[in-house]
Amino acid sequence: MHVTFRQLAIFNAVAEKLSFTEAANTLHLTQPAVSVQIKRLEDSVGLPLFEQLGKKIYLTSAGEELLHYSRNIFQELDEAGEMFAQMQDISRGTLSVSVATTASSFATRMISAFLKQYPAATIRLDVTNRGTLIRQLESNEKDIVIMGKPPEHMDLVGEAFMKNPLVVIAPPDHPLAGKANISINTLQNEPFVVREPASGTRAALEKLFAWCHISPAIQVEIADNEAIKEAVAAGLGLSVVSRHTLELDLQARRLVILDVEHFPIARNWYLAYRRGKRLSPIALAFKALVFEQAPKMAEALSS
Ligand code: PGA
Repeated sequence: MHVTFRQLAIFNAVAEKLSFTEAANTLHLTQPAVSVQIKRLEDSVGLPLFEQLGKKIYLTSAGEELLHYSRNIFQELDEAGEMFAQMQDISRGTLSVSVATTASSFATRMISAFLKQYPAATIRLDVTNRGTLIRQLESNEKDIVIMGKPPEHMDLVGEAFMKNPLVVIAPPDHPLAGKANISINTLQNEPFVVREPASGTRAALEKLFAWCHISPAIQVEIADNEAIKEAVAAGLGLSVVSRHTLELDLQARRLVILDVEHFPIARNWYLAYRRGKRLSPIALAFKALVFEQAPKMAEALSS
């Protein structure tokens, strides 16, 4: 069927007024121009759309059917227009962002600062580990990803915006607590509580341990920073976590940072997305906010 939007718009006008003349006036067309378009539409459909009984015209049953579809088509077009307007309008837009588990401690604050600026915006936040973030980048599922070092094998834009120091934690009554310049070899005899294998923190820790030829016993593996800190506070072992997850625990003296050789492991937080991706206006606004807030955030998290 070769039907144009213009023909459908003319058809809708005639069907609503049930008059070629009134439809022509509304559309600022001549009556013959309206008749020609309706004739073409009837040719495409293969059935008459109007019938004249006496002086009045009526829709045929094919005309009734076409009116139903054509109203739906224009309604969908209106909805698409509204959706595109929303995408342009940051204040009502939706941002889909995925962050590393460890980054959730500051990412939620950045989101809160963003929502202060754009209270009617919607944020879909996914908190997950490095392995899942890489899969999400591969499938281009998210507007923006916040992670540790982006994988080199992928063609990504990855911009570092904040340091992410990884430190060794212990309960305050641990024999190594308060000691200065602890040799990394000392850790060989300490049981460890670690993140799951797909975690970036875990990968960084294993890299350092392999480089130093040590392999402390893994006592417990937990896919959650909060639970790891509970386990360490309960004396199940030492752990390596981002300094950024420790703000309250250090204040409350529930945990202490050990002064171990080669620590903190210096990592960075990156904002990443696939190269060539066209960031939506809301994603660009969020990216700008992340870079603007990062220095303040870093200060607050390390104090
Ligand atoms: P994660 O942190 O350990 O929560 O995956 C991400 C990273 O440091 O790469």
